[in-house]
Amino acid sequence: MTNDDTPDVDTARDAGPRPETQVVRVGRDANSSALSVPIWATTTFVADSVDEGRRMATSTTSSTFYSRYGNPTINAFEDAIAELEGAEAARAFASGMGAVSAVVLGLCSKGDHIVTQRQLYAGSQLLFQAVCPRFGIDVTFVDATDAVAWQEAVQPGRTVLVFAETPANPRLDLVDLDRLATLKGPMKVVDATFATPLGQRTLDHGVDLVLHSATKAIGGHNDVSLGVVAGSRELIDWIWGFAVLQGANAGPFDAAGGLKGLRTLGVRLAHQSASAQALATRLSGDPRVEAVRYPFLASHPQHDLARRQLRHGGGLLTFDVVGGLDAGRRFVESTELCQLATSLGGPETLVTHPASTTHVGLLPEELEAAGIGPGTIRMSIGLEDPDDVAHDVLAALGRAAGEPS
Ligand SMILES: Cc1ncc(COP(=O)(O)O)c(C=O)c1O
Repeated sequence: MTNDDTPDVDTARDAGPRPETQVVRVGRDANSSALSVPIWATTTFVADSVDEGRRMATSTTSSTFYSRYGNPTINAFEDAIAELEGAEAARAFASGMGAVSAVVLGLCSKGDHIVTQRQLYAGSQLLFQAVCPRFGIDVTFVDATDAVAWQEAVQPGRTVLVFAETPANPRLDLVDLDRLATLKGPMKVVDATFATPLGQRTLDHGVDLVLHSATKAIGGHNDVSLGVVAGSRELIDWIWGFAVLQGANAGPFDAAGGLKGLRTLGVRLAHQSASAQALATRLSGDPRVEAVRYPFLASHPQHDLARRQLRHGGGLLTFDVVGGLDAGRRFVESTELCQLATSLGGPETLVTHPASTTHVGLLPEELEAAGIGPGTIRMSIGLEDPDDVAHDVLAALGRAAGEPS
């Protein structure tokens, strides 16, 4: 500080604007003077000539041929994500699972091998476990936190894809991205939904593709269903070739919602991270809970990695309610401000009980391998006053423990 009132301003801005500034500006180039990106609510576009129509039908970057191929509003969202991620290109999808399935099924063929982790969003896990084998694609699951296990699972000449999710749903295990990037041979893909483009510079570590369920923090208001993958022009073009046939393309209204969400991602993430960290700290000393997990808590088993790899602790935290399944269920039914709903990254604080909701399709041994206990609770911290959230959580813990109210 130069004096009591005036903060120092960093005038040496060689690195360009910070990501929190970038989110306010990105994705506007192709939309002339409109400050807010216009919604192109059209499925098709008029071509000037047959040659022009043919050129557009075969171009991966055409945005005015047919909206399953491309659309100016969707392209604006894709450009925004590519710029934020430091990627050459991006492709948007109708959901996070649209992006995950396009990457996996667009890049792998019969006889190929994939390495992924046990601690995964359940939809991705079921894709690897149930769908890939039907198409003759073998999958090996490893412990996300074990860099050596990733390396040992790669089969030279056969492993085409390594798919990581970090921080992982729901227990916030981390994958060391620097180590992952050193794996020779396969393409490295990272689902960075929990980190967001602001919380982690995923591609800077040297992996090939980064993807997000933009339904979550990027959209940020529980009103869009959207996914996106970003990487080199060559890989995105390849994925585009599959995506136009897969048909899980984003719609222009959702893409506009994704862009609107991006504008406030910086301030939302800052508030949610501070609020989540305060609650995690408070719960750490509470005898009614155990195993509180938050990346920026010193007790997180990968705390050093979290500090190296993440710019924010994030809005997610997990803990186990003492008393197992019954206590876990009672807890999520006892909160009043925090709502029992399956999603994350929005303005409302949400609680989930993975064992009976998001991960209900997994066998008991699979739940255990993913680190999900009968009393595990995942919380997505919203934009409410942090004290109000904490008050509600502590009162619900009392009710779950059968304490007199
Ligand atoms: C880490 C992660 N990846 C992917 C998805 C799938 O996203 P969507 O629901 O948008 O298909 C989710 C959904 O919760 C998720 O948590």
